[in-house]
Amino acid sequence: MMSSVLLILTVCLSGYAAGLEALSQSVITAFLSGHNRMRSALNLPDLVWNSTLVSVAKSHVVDCHYIKIEDGNFDISPRKERDNVDIANDAMTMWSWEVNNLDPKWACIYNWSCKRYSQVVWRKTKSVGCAIVHCSRYDVNLLKCEYYPPGNVVGEIPY
Ligand SMILES: *[C@@H]1O[C@H](CO)[C@@H](O)[C@H](O)[C@H]1NC(C)=O
Ligand SMILES: *[C@@H]1O[C@H](CO)[C@@H](O)[C@H](O)[C@H]1NC(C)=O
Repeated sequence: MMSSVLLILTVCLSGYAAGLEALSQSVITAFLSGHNRMRSALNLPDLVWNSTLVSVAKSHVVDCHYIKIEDGNFDISPRKERDNVDIANDAMTMWSWEVNNLDPKWACIYNWSCKRYSQVVWRKTKSVGCAIVHCSRYDVNLLKCEYYPPGNVVGEIPY
């Protein structure tokens, strides 16, 4: 019952945004290998893909409202031309560059300068799920990833 209500809601909302199709295996691989490259450089265990988190991420991008994505690992890119593998790979590259902003106390988490990287390399996080939507309204792609257990816990450091 609950899941059919959610399904109907998802189908209706997706009218606002083109291309909230399920991610192909190659996009999932791009996300996972991007995350796990950053983690294995620190000897952190790999993340696995989590379809429950994909649904949460989808719910945050489906109506193309930026405001709902900015509290986590997100990316915004111009809509022209790009396929989801490129969008995922570019986001992984940008997030990895945040390693250059690290400071010894991880204060950078709280002014955004390393917040996406710090979540990727959060030791206690075990799984990730992401969604990409192509928003004709603003001519952008929105991308968001969700994590379990979530990182960037106030008062803790990533690893
Ligand atoms: C963010 O915080 C770090 C650590 O305190 C600092 O080095 C950096 O300059 C800050 N960046 C911005 C954009 O405020
Ligand atoms: C996937 O995410 C859900 C919801 O956040 C969580 O309950 C579940 O334990 C996660 N599964 C894995 C393998 O991390």
